[in-house]
Amino acid sequence: MIRIALPKGRLGDKVLAMFENAGYACPEIHTPSRKLVFSTDKVSYFFVKPSDVPIYVERGVADVGVAGSDILVEHEPDVYSLLDLGIGRCRLCVAAKEEFKDDFVSPLRVATKFKNTAAKYYASCGRTIDIIKLNGSIELAPILGLSDVIVDIVETGTTLKENGLVVKQEILPISARLIANKSAYKFNSTEISELLQKLQAQREV
Ligand code: PRP
Repeated sequence: MIRIALPKGRLGDKVLAMFENAGYACPEIHTPSRKLVFSTDKVSYFFVKPSDVPIYVERGVADVGVAGSDILVEHEPDVYSLLDLGIGRCRLCVAAKEEFKDDFVSPLRVATKFKNTAAKYYASCGRTIDIIKLNGSIELAPILGLSDVIVDIVETGTTLKENGLVVKQEILPISARLIANKSAYKFNSTEISELLQKLQAQREV
């Protein structure tokens, strides 16, 4: 049996459909309930917070999982990244109020969930920053004056638009990746390779 950690939320639904179409169906998962683990004799699925997927995979309680490349770049887990699934495409961007202009004098106040990625990006630009780590609703920060800019995910751009913010720079394209635990990849290679091949066939280009 292969153990799979999937991200809760909008990406998770798309990913589950991909796995089911690849031959890893689990009818019980579609029955509304508060259950957290769903198993057949072939597969065991569990849904976790997207940023927790690499933790379950790295620690080996999941053989494989699906995580956004944003999370992999931010946390650099010790896992194999096997496949770009071609879904969950979005961009990590710097955004601010339209009228905001960097004075390049005082440290730039940057609100973000992606502390490490933002720090690396601004270090590469030689810009001193003051990082403000938030856990959600990042767009509020420049609106309320908590930060000058945000580093956040932009998918459709609706959240920025509805809050009067615009993209100032693009940092990184993002998509969902199939990741594997390193030992599982070695010792369950037949099962994981079979899954990989079937997902490759499902992959949206
Ligand atoms: C993400 C991101 C933006 C929004 C972008 O938030 O942080 O707020 O999606 O999507 P859009 O460009 O399609 O509008 P999420 O929904 O994950 O919630 P969060 O505010 O808790 O981070």
